[in-house]
Amino acid sequence: MKAVEIEQRQAAALEEIRAAADERSLDALRAKYLGRKGLVPALMKELKALPPEERPLAGRKANELKVAVQQALTERRRELAEARAHPAAAAASFDYSLPGVWRGTGSRHPISSIIERAVEIFHGLGFTVAEGPDIETEYYNFDALNTPPDHPSRDPQDTFYLSDGRLLRTQTSPVQIRYMEAHPPPVRIVAPGRCYRRDTPDATHSANFHQIEGLYVARGVSMADLKGTLAYFARRMMGPGVRVRFRPHFFPFTEPSVEVDFSCHACGGKGCRICKHSGWIEIAGAGMVDPNVFAAVGYDPDEYSGYAFGMGIERMAMILYGINDIRVFYENDIRFLEQFAQ
Ligand code: PHE
Repeated sequence: MKAVEIEQRQAAALEEIRAAADERSLDALRAKYLGRKGLVPALMKELKALPPEERPLAGRKANELKVAVQQALTERRRELAEARAHPAAAAASFDYSLPGVWRGTGSRHPISSIIERAVEIFHGLGFTVAEGPDIETEYYNFDALNTPPDHPSRDPQDTFYLSDGRLLRTQTSPVQIRYMEAHPPPVRIVAPGRCYRRDTPDATHSANFHQIEGLYVARGVSMADLKGTLAYFARRMMGPGVRVRFRPHFFPFTEPSVEVDFSCHACGGKGCRICKHSGWIEIAGAGMVDPNVFAAVGYDPDEYSGYAFGMGIERMAMILYGINDIRVFYENDIRFLEQFAQ
């Protein structure tokens, strides 16, 4: 066999070895090339028959083939052992030079945007952010908030209870208690977060929703401060044309208490599906902190007064963006969400 032919045989042999699927095939290839009746001994024998001038080069090529085949066998054997030890790594090997697939850029969820904007507005008024747990005790969600034991909001029909007696908070108001327990007055906080109620979902109800709680406690705080603050907030959030109205109401933890409506941003107050044709939408509950709440946290009600409010984030989002079904916020339909991409 001439030198060029030996080179061709070597190339073919190496290809065969690299493609070997298991150790058994490697054994067979070793026999085919290096074994007693294999290619290498046959080549060595053939050398003697070559003309003397061709012998040195052919001899060198035959040797090179032998060494290359030995190395390739060892290398392939090592690879197979490795793949057996780490199957996942072997499967994960892929071509890094392939072009990637563009998955698109995400965007802020509209609920997160509203929370962020609200926090920013209150931040400008000197409020800081406080937080509390979603899983609360009856004490923080009801008792400390002056809610009587027979109050309907405690009913398991309305509140999600855990088997250990704890509950999913129905409002962000328990954060008021936690914060006042840990900090002496004055207090000026907002607490955004998720709340849970056992409501049957429909266009305006969801079993979980978001509120932003506000609490301001200092000497001489009055209802006028509450009105001024919420009116300012409404204008910053909805635009200068918004109107705000307070209706007398009752909450166990505030006295006096009010419900706060904003004029509907979606229709400018003329009446539409979102505001149920009234021109107004209820945004918040609020009032002056009840002395019993101060007693629960050890504040002196003769020295301090305060206001509190809890606003519905989804409600604000609905009138601001003209959305008439609250459920779209939780369905994560990309066609809805991508409209809020900036
Ligand atoms: N926690 C009340 C609710 O969820 C709202 C509220 C907060 C009312 C603070 C008064 C003061 O309905």
